Amino acid sequence: MLIFSFQETVIRKALPILEHIIKGISNHDLFLGQCFKIADLGCSSSKNTLLVVSNIMDIVIEVCKENRYKPPQFEVCLNDLFGNDFNTLFKLLPDFYAKLKKDKGKQFSPCFVSAVPGSFYCRLFPDQSLHLVHSSYSVHWLSQVPDGLESNALNIYMAKTSPPNVFEAYGEQFKTDFTKFLQIRAEEIVCGGRMVLTFVGRSVVDPSSDESCRLWELLAQSLLDMVKEV
Ligand SMILES: C[S@@+](CC[C@H](N)C(=O)[O-])C[C@H]1O[C@@H](n2cnc3c(N)ncnc32)[C@H](O)[C@@H]1O
Repeated sequence: MLIFSFQETVIRKALPILEHIIKGISNHDLFLGQCFKIADLGCSSSKNTLLVVSNIMDIVIEVCKENRYKPPQFEVCLNDLFGNDFNTLFKLLPDFYAKLKKDKGKQFSPCFVSAVPGSFYCRLFPDQSLHLVHSSYSVHWLSQVPDGLESNALNIYMAKTSPPNVFEAYGEQFKTDFTKFLQIRAEEIVCGGRMVLTFVGRSVVDPSSDESCRLWELLAQSLLDMVKEV
């Protein structure tokens, strides 16, 4: 619960950026089309997922109102890994649809939610089919544990005691993954579409700073203590 509320804070803090990006779309054909297609990548299965969807819909509807356009219909594709609990999400949908209808009144636009299971490091959508890609607190997850971490034996991530090749391996894996992520999305997003990604970064250059690694060092230490007790 605590974790979900932290992620909710991240979503709320990023809201002005989302607003700025959607309001900055100068090609209004995107709003005038039959259907505004949104993908939320790494959506998980909490209330946060639908909070993001309703934030995006609110902003698009506001832009349409300001420009006296009829709001489009919305197609919302929720993506996460194959093992994600999509059933929990689906069970939230009846209340979500009912609330939309009640809150929007005359401004109501139909919204069609579906699930797209799979890794966002692979193709998920047809060519040039998405108007807006959103992802909150997910893209920092790598596609795999980097190769060559044998020398990092007592750690579970980068740590102050990790040898230099471990930092390089994580850096390279991120570079490979993120490049692939961007290349794939470039194929899936329509010309003039937008993408809003929120993910973990750090404010200092040193990748072994407490800000980046302390949490994982403590977790590794706890695991080692547990192993000693066996
Ligand atoms: C911390 S949760 C964030 C969930 C939600 N976006 C939020 O803000 O509450 C990260 C999510 O990313 C998903 N994820 C991690 N790697 C992924 C990948 N390669 N493809 C799709 N989803 C992924 C995880 O399964 C998890 O549900």
